[in-house]
Amino acid sequence: MSKILIKNIKGLFQVNDQLTKAKAGAAMQIDDMLENAFLAIENDTIVAYGSMDDWGGITDWRDLQVIDAEGKFVLPAFCDSHTHAIFADTREGEFEDRIKGLSYEEIALKGGGILNSAGKLQHMDEDQLFEDALNRIHSLVQYGTGAIEIKSGYGLTTEAELKMLRVVKRLKEASPMTIKATFLGAHAIPKEYKENRRGYIDLMINEMLPKIHEEGLADYIDCFCERNYFTVDEMNEILDAGAKYGLTPKVHVNQFSVMGGVKSAVDRGARSVDHLEEMDDGDIDALKGSECIPTLLPGCSFFLSIPYGKARKMIENNLPVAIASDYNPGSAPSGNMQFLTSLACAKMNMTPIEALNAITINSADAMDLAETHGSISIGKKANILITKPMNALARIPYSFGENNIESVYLNGQLFEHK
Ligand code: NIG
Ligand code: FE
Repeated sequence: MSKILIKNIKGLFQVNDQLTKAKAGAAMQIDDMLENAFLAIENDTIVAYGSMDDWGGITDWRDLQVIDAEGKFVLPAFCDSHTHAIFADTREGEFEDRIKGLSYEEIALKGGGILNSAGKLQHMDEDQLFEDALNRIHSLVQYGTGAIEIKSGYGLTTEAELKMLRVVKRLKEASPMTIKATFLGAHAIPKEYKENRRGYIDLMINEMLPKIHEEGLADYIDCFCERNYFTVDEMNEILDAGAKYGLTPKVHVNQFSVMGGVKSAVDRGARSVDHLEEMDDGDIDALKGSECIPTLLPGCSFFLSIPYGKARKMIENNLPVAIASDYNPGSAPSGNMQFLTSLACAKMNMTPIEALNAITINSADAMDLAETHGSISIGKKANILITKPMNALARIPYSFGENNIESVYLNGQLFEHK
C-alpha cells in the first residue's frame, strides 16, 4: 500500500466532502480553504485532511511518505473539459495571416482552419498520432492538469474519425490522467461534401456513429453550431442521432454568432455549452434552472482577438461557469490552465477564487467527474497539485505566464514527465 502525508500546507483549497456538483453564482466565490493543513492519501484515494493542530486522522505511521508543503498551497488538479489535443500539426502560418489582417473565418473559408488540420491528420498514422498526443497531454500535467476531455473532429472521414477516437481510447489506457472522449464529426463540412451537406450528415449518422458505438469509443457528442459550419437544425439532428447511442451532448455554440443553439442543446440535455463569446438574454434564460454548464474558453478569445464570454453576467444569473482551454492548433494553441485564470481575472473580471473554482469543480462537473474529481474530499481520487511557495493563492492568476506548480500527483502517485 502506498501512503502519503502532506504536512504544513499553507492553504488547502477546495476542501469539502459535500462537493459533488459545480458551484453556481455567488457560491463560486467560496474558497473552502483550510489553512495550516495536512492531507493524507492512501493508494489512489484521499483518506484524511485536517488542521496541523489536530492530527486525529493519522494513527498508523508505518510506510508513510511525508512531504513538507511549508509555504505552499495544495489544490485539486485542474480539469480541462474541452480540448482538441489530438492533431497532426501546428498552424503558425495561419497565425501570421491573422496578424496581417485576415480573420479566423476568412482563413477557414479559403480552406485553412479545421479542413487544413483534417487534411494532415488523415495521412498520419495512428501510432504517431498517439505518441504525439500522449506527449502533448503529459506536458500539460506539469502545468497542473489532471483530467482532460479530448475531441475528434480533425478526421472528417469515417476512417480518420475512428482513428482519432481510437487514439483517445489508447490514451485512456496509457496515461494516469483521467480522460473523456467526444465525437466531433460535425466539426466542419469536408471539401468533398461542400455541395452535399446532407451526404456528410448521413455519413455521420449512418456510418460513423454505429461504428463508434460498436467499439465504445465516445462518451459525448459535439457539434460546431455556427454560421458556415452547422445550423441549429443540423445540430439537433446529429445530437438526436447520438442520443440513440447514449451519447450526451457537449457542444460548440455562440463562438461568432447567436443562432439559438444554446436552447436547443439545453433542451437535448447537453452536459455543457462551450464558447459563448456571443450571448443574448435568451441564452441565459435557457441555461437558468438547467443542469447544463456554460463553459468559457478565454484562451480562444485571447488568441483570435474575439470577445470574452460574459462571466460576470452568468454568475449574477446564478449559473455555474466552467473554464476550459479549447487546446487546438487553430484557435487556442495552449493548454496552460494557469494562464486561463489570468485571462479570467484580467479580462472577464472574475475573482481569483471564481477562476480557480471554474477550472476545478466546475470543469470537473462539465465532464461528469464531479463525484470523483475537482475537490479535496474524502474518497475522491488523489489527483492533487502542490504549488511553489507563494504569499496568496491569487499568485496563480496574478503572475501570468509563469508556472506556479511544483508537483502533481495523479492517482496518488507523483507524476514525472519523461
Ligand atoms: O473550438 N471552433 C471550433 N473548433 C475549434 C477550433 C478548431 C480549429 O481551428 O482547428 C475551437 O475553437
Ligand atoms: Fe473547441
